[in-house]
Amino acid sequence: MHIPVMLNECLEALITDPKGIYVDGTLGNGGHSAEIFKQLDTDGMLIGFDRDIDAIERVKGKLKSEEGKRVELVHDNYANMAAQLDRLGIGQVNGLLLDLGVSSFQLDIAERGFSFQQDAPIDMRMDQTSGQTAGELVNTAPEQELADLIYRYGEDKASRRIARAIVDARGKNRIETTLQLAAIVERAKGGRKGKKTHPATQTFQALRMAVNDELAGIERVLETMLDRVVEGGRIVVLTFHSLEDRLVKQLFSRHVPREESLQQGGVKRIYEDPAIAWVWKKPLTATEEEQAVNPRSRSAKLRAVEIGE
Ligand SMILES: C[S@@+](CC[C@H](N)C(=O)[O-])C[C@H]1O[C@@H](n2cnc3c(N)ncnc32)[C@H](O)[C@@H]1O
Repeated sequence: MHIPVMLNECLEALITDPKGIYVDGTLGNGGHSAEIFKQLDTDGMLIGFDRDIDAIERVKGKLKSEEGKRVELVHDNYANMAAQLDRLGIGQVNGLLLDLGVSSFQLDIAERGFSFQQDAPIDMRMDQTSGQTAGELVNTAPEQELADLIYRYGEDKASRRIARAIVDARGKNRIETTLQLAAIVERAKGGRKGKKTHPATQTFQALRMAVNDELAGIERVLETMLDRVVEGGRIVVLTFHSLEDRLVKQLFSRHVPREESLQQGGVKRIYEDPAIAWVWKKPLTATEEEQAVNPRSRSAKLRAVEIGE
């Protein structure tokens, strides 16, 4: 079961006009989308994106246009959102929600290859219709490239040792499955050392982020959609680890006006166009009650901005 994270907080931040057009960039199981759709009035519209065709098929069965309220589902990377809105003849929207990362469905289905707890070919593509699998990356990338991406996307200080171990192992036999890879990483890091998290957690995160080009996608959708949300509309983003959160925070911060004193006196307002304002200064986190029932919410950070000053 995928329980939507911080559902009430997301909806409260997102919906400013129930007759508006709202985009859910990460449909997943449609948990957030179903509630957005419920809260829309006649003339309201929901557009949902997911690059995973399974998500689109699942949500198709649950969410349908009703008289006066429309749903449009798009199978594409949210990085292409602006072009897809052009195709649909939609100029501006009232709000955008992104709930980043993988869904519980993707993690639970062993064959998707996201999990080091279930044995399967190492795939990790969110869109299984295109692109290189994590298995191909692990078996072909130069050692330095593997080390760099494990360091950058996994923030694992043992990145060089892990990359070396991967290259040694694949020199003997192709690395076929998630459990083989997890064991190689575990050995390279000297075992579990009594830690709660599996030693391969960061390497798996890094490979997933690389294969799906995740940070570039987030940057692109946010940069292009800032111009496509009406003044007073909101962009709401749920992140699940520090790399995502840092990127979102830094990108939005560039658009929040700040004042700088001029030498000749007076002040100058500095910001990138369009100007936006934080809905809250600090990100919201899930309540203790939610964290108790939904472990995925424990690492969630919710940021929201409003377009205009
Ligand atoms: C955490 S789940 C969303 C869960 C959803 N909010 C719910 O409550 O059911 C994230 C979803 O976003 C999708 N996704 C991740 N990156 C994407 C991208 N760049 N473009 C489109 N969809 C993406 C994943 O395939 C996954 O289904």
